[in-house]
Amino acid sequence: MLAGKRILLVVSGGIAAYKSLELVRRLRERGAAVTAVLTRSGAEFVTPLSLASLTENKVYQELFSLTDESEMGHIQLSRAADLVVVAPATANALAKLAAGIADDLASTLLLATDKDVMVAPAMNVRMWEHPATRANLATLRQRGVLVVGPEEGPMACGEFGLGRLSEPMTILAAVDAYFAAATPLAGKRALVTSGPTHEPIDPVRYIANRSSGKQGHAIAAALARLGARVTLVTGPVTLADPPAVETVHVETATEMLEACLAALPADVAVCAAAVADWRVARAAGQKLKKDGKGAPTLSMTENPDILATLSKRKADRPALVVGFAAETQSVVDYARAKLKKKGCDWILANDVSGGGVFGQDDNQITLVDATGEEAWPRLDKQAVAQRLAQRIADRLAAGEEA
Ligand code: C5P
Repeated sequence: MLAGKRILLVVSGGIAAYKSLELVRRLRERGAAVTAVLTRSGAEFVTPLSLASLTENKVYQELFSLTDESEMGHIQLSRAADLVVVAPATANALAKLAAGIADDLASTLLLATDKDVMVAPAMNVRMWEHPATRANLATLRQRGVLVVGPEEGPMACGEFGLGRLSEPMTILAAVDAYFAAATPLAGKRALVTSGPTHEPIDPVRYIANRSSGKQGHAIAAALARLGARVTLVTGPVTLADPPAVETVHVETATEMLEACLAALPADVAVCAAAVADWRVARAAGQKLKKDGKGAPTLSMTENPDILATLSKRKADRPALVVGFAAETQSVVDYARAKLKKKGCDWILANDVSGGGVFGQDDNQITLVDATGEEAWPRLDKQAVAQRLAQRIADRLAAGEEA
């Protein structure tokens, strides 16, 4: 049931907009209160009166309407909801949301909202397959926007393919699932490391690696969505801090270890950072100069192993410690050896032999633990994060029962 839930429904333009009326009916049948926002192009397909009648609520259309703003400002509107649903979401609406454009009421409130956003895309198959739309979707997913559909089938334009708005019952099921999803990690603390480390050579130069932090950040966000109190310790990345996650920014492996130890105790630690194995033993205090005597020799020393340190803690070892292993050959064998050597509970092994993991959106994982291994299908990093977060929740719950 959705009793008492407040849905803010944004209806953007497109022939599928008529299905939003059915969606309103279904949501209301299940006890949800619905407030609709209709874009200008949406109003070409459904009338404000239909939406007002079915929602039994005022329909909001204009950003600069004096009456609307005095009754309920757009900021308030964006926050007085438990979930924002955009159905249908046109290619244009998705593009604006991805780019952060706020040029009408719908796009402004989507930028201003502090609530989760679910989009149900609907467009012609070619628009759906266009690289611009693909990139926008990837950006939105990465930010935690929930996506329902689209579906495949004959389209109003006479073509066949992916791009049809999901049926109202499917969108309703996704809304149901959103609210039904318990928060199994409520009361649990999680520590996640992410990104590369930068190890200084001198004040302007450093040794780094190609880690983007996408996987670690996605894991932190997924654990937070399941209710965990998450501390994310991240090396230098270009990603935004995930919502509802305490994010600590560090540069070096030494700083990362310190921040991790400060975040203990935790119930689970996930080490997704690509920590530099070595650092320059004594970084120069001043910028190194070419002095005509040839290149400098850098003397290296080993960095602390954060995963092993956390795994081997005595008093405050997290109940579950998870590491990653990027390998180019004998992936599972190496992962199993790493599991033993580092003392962690799970290793998520990924095959990076094709070079298609660092900085990319996909990941091919095999979960290795003391009892066996499980190959996951190739998934995008958000899906890997979601799956891992759910597995962590199951494992911590099983631990409590035992
Ligand atoms: O030994 P290797 O770097 O292959 O192990 C990878 C795993 O160990 C990852 O989970 C990584 O986050 C973690 N690690 C660490 N500290 C290091 C090196 C790796 O936590 N210094």
